[in-house]
Amino acid sequence: FAPKLLQGQSILLTAGPTREAIDPVRYISNHSSGKMGFALAKMAAAMGANVTLVAGPVHLPTPAGVTRLDVESTQDMLNAVMQNVDNNKIFIGCAAVADYRIGEVAEDKIKKSAQNMQLALVRNPDILATVASHKPRPFTVGFAAETQDVEHYAKDKLIRKKLDMIAANDVSNPELGFNAEQNALKVIWADGQHDLPATDKLILARQLLTLIAEHVALLQDD
Ligand code: C5P
Repeated sequence: FAPKLLQGQSILLTAGPTREAIDPVRYISNHSSGKMGFALAKMAAAMGANVTLVAGPVHLPTPAGVTRLDVESTQDMLNAVMQNVDNNKIFIGCAAVADYRIGEVAEDKIKKSAQNMQLALVRNPDILATVASHKPRPFTVGFAAETQDVEHYAKDKLIRKKLDMIAANDVSNPELGFNAEQNALKVIWADGQHDLPATDKLILARQLLTLIAEHVALLQDD
């Protein structure tokens, strides 16, 4: 059951990992399954929102009614997001974005030779922080996957990245978070917070989107 709390709202989301090429056949990436972001996209559409999902490489079906843009690298994801940001009132950054990319991607497949080799990495742009500093900015929600001091690091991220809200999860528990069917979130905003205990990602998506809908409605009343 999903009340249409997001009727008339437009939501842009990122989900899944990003993939950074090393050469034409190799890449670095991470274990993000995209399940939480796809659950959010599916539930947001069920709650009446117009949903655009920018997805890294994942094996998940596109939820009904959702516009999906497939990307690989962080730079591709940033471009897709910035092309769509002005048409959306809410942004949720759920992707596990690669913090670094390969400095110089080899044009040809790298041949093995020496016993040791080094890859020089350079920092990727921060998609979430870029959206949060864009004008006019959408209501901007980030995720924080932490293994310790979850609340402390999440609050720091909320302030540092100038977010409206952050959903933090403890990924040290293998039953929850990455690739799991269930998750638990601590949702934090400037003057409040709310714990969403462990449950299916789709139910959690509805609870998080309800919190977002309440905050966006409050802003619109101002
Ligand atoms: O700082 P950290 O990477 O832990 O923050 C996680 C949040 O930032 C997530 O919402 C993630 O989608 C977003 N992020 C991003 N671009 C990056 C790194 C993280 O949008 N380059």
